[in-house]
Amino acid sequence: MINFKEVKDRYEKELIEFRRDLHMYPELSLKEFETTRKIKDRLTSMGIEIIDIGMETGVVGLLRGSEDGPTIALRGDIDALPIQEISNREYKSKIDGVMHACGHDIHTASVMGAAMILSQMRDRIKGNVVFVFQPAEEINAGAKMMVKSGLFQKVKIDRIIGLHNNPEIPWGKIAIKKEGLMAAVDTIRIRIMGKGGHGAIPHATRDPIVASAAMIMNLQTIISRNISPLNSAVISFGTIKAGTANNVIPELVEISGTVRSFHPDDRKLLPERIKKVVETTAEGYMVEAELDYIFDLPAVYNPEDLTNLAYETCREVLGEEYIYDPIPSMGGEDFAIFTENVEGFFFWIGVGNKEEDMNYVWHNPRFDGDDRAIINASAFMSGMVLKSIENMR
Ligand code: NI
Repeated sequence: MINFKEVKDRYEKELIEFRRDLHMYPELSLKEFETTRKIKDRLTSMGIEIIDIGMETGVVGLLRGSEDGPTIALRGDIDALPIQEISNREYKSKIDGVMHACGHDIHTASVMGAAMILSQMRDRIKGNVVFVFQPAEEINAGAKMMVKSGLFQKVKIDRIIGLHNNPEIPWGKIAIKKEGLMAAVDTIRIRIMGKGGHGAIPHATRDPIVASAAMIMNLQTIISRNISPLNSAVISFGTIKAGTANNVIPELVEISGTVRSFHPDDRKLLPERIKKVVETTAEGYMVEAELDYIFDLPAVYNPEDLTNLAYETCREVLGEEYIYDPIPSMGGEDFAIFTENVEGFFFWIGVGNKEEDMNYVWHNPRFDGDDRAIINASAFMSGMVLKSIENMR
């Protein structure tokens, strides 16, 4: 197995330096050219094969063990955000208006750390390891692009493991959760078409404003009446567009919102109920309505056996005290796209440190994480790979 003290002594310093370099030179989604080059250089120097899936950014590396066997993939995302960093740290972003405000630099370094650990013990690995450095997570595009580019055809993958940092969890802890950890994310757009006219003569119109108000309220009851109170789901509207003057009833109202859920059954139920409520409310208010329901991302949903394997691995590699029981997030993660193709497990690595002012939420201009957590993530992921191969053989 992994000797944590040994790998910490050996790799921690280099991984922190690597992460801070990435942090100083962040790159936006699908523009991660230098980051890609840095990752490729390191993997190549370790004797890890680069698999070309025909994408300009992002890297897929293949480490072959001593004999053929199960192939386990580790995935970290690599892109940054269009945010101006506010920081006094010496490794703050040197690129104006661009910042690793979601800590993907930490993920890149964590997966790189696992590559360093595992490549050193390749003659003892009875299987293969794939390192997936995914671009464009922030725009929900990278995972889809990698799958479309033939990731799963160009290299055989039996299981995939991914991570995200979490600044609300003490640094170094491994947050493990059975089933839903991050929500399914879907988008709805509704067009409500009425008949315009004078605000003083409403009976001669078909008012889409009043209809849309009723629709928004009725849709909320799906959450309170159709979803089990023990499950989590949300329908939130972010835009309403209509009208040109205070005394004119318009022809059209357009609203858009986000629908989030965890349980696969709820994700099936929600579009059915939303469609019904939109149609019947429109009918009741004598207007027409069109619904676009866009399935963006499934939930990050951890199967029970892999969750148990994670507990076991964390106990063995880091110790029981590193296991953290997290509250799931209604945020989404495009890692879930990979798990439509192959079984997967996703965890959070704690990077929070109140004394060091490292507790700002994701996407905050002051976001930072304690990078001493990186080696913990690397060691844990390496352990997950070794244990998976052992179990699946
Ligand atoms: Ni992120």
